[in-house]
Amino acid sequence: MKKRVAVIGYGGMGAGSHCKKILASDVCELAGIYDIDPEKRAKAEADGIKAYSTREDLLADPSVDIVTVATPNDSHEEIVIASLKAGKHVICEKPVALSLDSLERMIAVAEAEGRIFSVHQNRRFDIDILAVKKVIESGEIGKPINLESRIHGSRGIPSDWRGKKEFGGGMLYDWGIHIIDQACMVLGYDVKSVTCTFDHITNKEVDDGFQLNMEFESGLRAYLEVGTYNFVHMPRFYLRCEGGTARIDRWDMPMHVVKCKAWHESDVDPVKYASGLTKTMAPRDSITVDEYDIEKQTSDPHDYYRNFVLACDGKAEQMVTHEQMRCVLNIVMKAFESAADDGRKIYL
Ligand SMILES: NC(=O)c1ccc[n+]([C@@H]2O[C@H](COP(=O)([O-])OP(=O)(O)OC[C@H]3O[C@@H](n4cnc5c(N)ncnc54)[C@H](O)[C@@H]3O)[C@@H](O)[C@H]2O)c1
Repeated sequence: MKKRVAVIGYGGMGAGSHCKKILASDVCELAGIYDIDPEKRAKAEADGIKAYSTREDLLADPSVDIVTVATPNDSHEEIVIASLKAGKHVICEKPVALSLDSLERMIAVAEAEGRIFSVHQNRRFDIDILAVKKVIESGEIGKPINLESRIHGSRGIPSDWRGKKEFGGGMLYDWGIHIIDQACMVLGYDVKSVTCTFDHITNKEVDDGFQLNMEFESGLRAYLEVGTYNFVHMPRFYLRCEGGTARIDRWDMPMHVVKCKAWHESDVDPVKYASGLTKTMAPRDSITVDEYDIEKQTSDPHDYYRNFVLACDGKAEQMVTHEQMRCVLNIVMKAFESAADDGRKIYL
């Protein structure tokens, strides 16, 4: 039998993503929504979706198994805890919380109530990060050295609650949490230290971009950058390994791999670059490298709800575990600490 899901928050993510996904799901069905804004509730009714008049009505409905929380970031804790205490399993939008203490309070209630509680890390299904994962796991260009991950736009931070501190605005919370989670998914969760600096180009109150360095216990390094004032294109991913380098230019482009097959140093002819000669920077040829694209990866974002439903029934471990939620949020918190101290290195 399909699980019945109710969505709290009928905005961009609640209406535009969760409700649509649930309506098309093979494992759950939409019980209805609640939004604090009566206009949003009216919109849901106009869309043919039941709108509960109050949150209490929604939580008191015994037919609701799962609550998905898709409200602004500062309201997550209170709604998650109320939903768990009403006996519901809970999916919370990212960032799950605005402090580690807040996350611990939510986890404690989930454990006490014996309910499944997880965060919606839907960008684990992005095919670009899956290509990075595939190249690392296949070992085809050897052990990774460092990964660069960039998300760039040029329209500044949105003018809604995302631009306000009190609501948990800023790009580190908004996009950062996604790309930190992705980096940990492919490089590991053993992050040792971070340094972070913020942009305040279009917004003085919250970061409208950031530059984050992460060092792992394993010696790996990652550089993560989000920018909302970037008018020139940079690659989405850049991965350096011991046996070559790989790059993904844009979201849906294939990963291009250059694999070093021979060192061949002695035969290098100097090249003229600008006003001087260089051997060090001389380009490679097909004798020393192979170049190819790896096939595009596929994914099904419905697997998020499929896994969650299995976890509710005790048949699978939840895809985004409490430990992973703690680790990713801890990195975010330490990045804030670093940015507040001129990019000082902070150990986790
Ligand atoms: N996973 C993703 O890819 C992704 C993408 C966008 C947003 N998000 C997250 O989803 C959440 C919502 O973002 P959004 O873009 O949909 O915002 P939004 O402003 O478009 O929608 C939020 C909705 O919540 C309602 N709301 C506010 N407080 C409420 C309360 N206390 N109870 C009930 N309803 C309330 C608002 O009226 C609004 O309709 C945020 O946490 C955001 O970070 C995730």
